[in-house]
Amino acid sequence: GHRGPKKVGTTEFTSVAPNRKDDVVNAPEFTHDVVIRWGDPVTARAPRFNAYKQTPEAQAQQFGYNNDYVGLIPLDGRRALLSVNHEYTDPELMFPAGMDELTKKKVEMAAHGLAVVAIEKGRKKGSWHTVDPRRSRYNRRVTASTPHQVDGPAAGHPMLRTKADPRGRTILGTFANCSGGTTPWGTTLHGEENFHGYFDASGSLDSTQSAAYARYGINGKGKGWKDVDERFDLTKAPNEPNRFGWVVELDPLDPSAPPVKHTMLGRLKHEGCNVTIAEDGRVVAYTGDDEKGEYIYKFVSRDRYRRDRSPHSRRHNKALLSAGTLYVGKFTGDGTADGLHDGTGTWIPLTSDRKSYVPGMSVAEVLIHTRVAADKVGPTKMDRPEDIEPNPVNGKVYCALTNNSDRGKKFTTDEANPLGTSMVRESLGAPLTAKSGNRNGYVLEITEKGRKTATSFTWDLMLICGDPAAQETYFAGFPKEQVSPISCPDNVAFDAEGNLWISTDGNVLGSNDGLFRVPTEGPERGRVQQFLTVPFGAETCGPLVSPDQLSVFTAVQHPGETDDATFEKPTSTWPHTDAFPRPSVIVSYAK
Ligand code: FEO
Ligand code: CA
Ligand code: CA
Ligand code: CA
Repeated sequence: GHRGPKKVGTTEFTSVAPNRKDDVVNAPEFTHDVVIRWGDPVTARAPRFNAYKQTPEAQAQQFGYNNDYVGLIPLDGRRALLSVNHEYTDPELMFPAGMDELTKKKVEMAAHGLAVVAIEKGRKKGSWHTVDPRRSRYNRRVTASTPHQVDGPAAGHPMLRTKADPRGRTILGTFANCSGGTTPWGTTLHGEENFHGYFDASGSLDSTQSAAYARYGINGKGKGWKDVDERFDLTKAPNEPNRFGWVVELDPLDPSAPPVKHTMLGRLKHEGCNVTIAEDGRVVAYTGDDEKGEYIYKFVSRDRYRRDRSPHSRRHNKALLSAGTLYVGKFTGDGTADGLHDGTGTWIPLTSDRKSYVPGMSVAEVLIHTRVAADKVGPTKMDRPEDIEPNPVNGKVYCALTNNSDRGKKFTTDEANPLGTSMVRESLGAPLTAKSGNRNGYVLEITEKGRKTATSFTWDLMLICGDPAAQETYFAGFPKEQVSPISCPDNVAFDAEGNLWISTDGNVLGSNDGLFRVPTEGPERGRVQQFLTVPFGAETCGPLVSPDQLSVFTAVQHPGETDDATFEKPTSTWPHTDAFPRPSVIVSYAK
């Protein structure tokens, strides 16, 4: 008889064993293709990639470095757009010896940002490949120099003004774009994360900003971009760092629309941002601030989502993230006598678009110095909140708390951040040994009270990650001998069944990083299974399950990133098309 297509949410697969291969290893029931690599053409004018003759002009037309978030915008039954983040660069892995230093900086600036790439379905069910850029009117690159609009209550504020932009409403570039989200109105959101590390100083720092600089880790140690553009020199452009650390909204369907920086969502090290539509039509967004001891944020829009597809309604929807209320999360435990790490919580209001709830700070000040504002209202210091996303099937919200080596030392333990010690492996096959801090991370589950716009919730740690042989680990009560080891959850996604997909970064159990599927409901809740592993030195990004559940997209970020790798002596050559590694987006599908 005819068998239906294998949907990744319901198909049984054999878990991939931990390994140290310089390859993508799929579950044996699946295979994968490379969709697009660093340097592949994005725009119609893009030259062929030549690693030995790199120019900023070429790179600005080609796929950037270190792909992270992957969004998918369907065009029709056969075609779609990938909207991809290029978070950062690894100069030691990108450039051949002898390249001019200034040219390298310019290439790196062009290798950051975003890409929109048209793809179409391949002959094999679930496979996808790129459309010839000359046949796509959507393909586009956004780099560290592309003009962005600023909107929301802080747009135009004096703290956002610079010599080059006296109105404080046009910002050149986006970078450090880590994870993101796709909106129901067909745009993509891109978190500006570790923006602090891009600003040098030729002289002294502006003393009026030193407290805020310190709170964000802005210390004048950048990447030498000031030699290309003086706006990266804090001494000459002290307000420039205030123009980064935002959530960027890109409209892949309108190539002429500049990306928008939404000040209403606050300025912090946004891992990403994901939205859902509440019962009353308002938009609820979640975002995590990825640094040790930082906070989880929620936003509720003032206006309501319009479902119809008219251009007028789409314009309305694209303004939903411009006005509303921003909250920060407080997590209270109910005690560990019940054997669970769980409790209740509240979303503490920081500011609306019109009224600040933080004494002594204006609306714009709360939004520009969000960390400083949040410190004043007593939220819970979490173990590096990474991706946070509502599950479209059960409505609960899932956040990856990747790790925190300082938990138990600089940060005291609490029920939501319980581990001051954890079990790790020095290398694959080595015994488990104890190390201070939370090393393997958690997955936090939030259940809003009644409505999605609620200001109170219950929570639990659905997963306490690590090797299932370690006593501290917890897999939602599922039998531990049946789960895959998992360490350092980073990005999350869902399939249409409501299974959670988790990608990892920084595995401390001796194996390469990978991608995992775990049911969130039913008898298999907590059954963590490894779906794939990524090559040596790589971080697993994306991930994205297509709505028809036939394809799983993974961004393989920084293959070969180790302490001793160089372009001439790489420790990875994946995807093995050149002598050096190339970060790439892959698609996995059933054999
Ligand atoms: Fe760029 Fe939080 O990982
Ligand atoms: Ca409890
Ligand atoms: Ca990440
Ligand atoms: Ca990470």
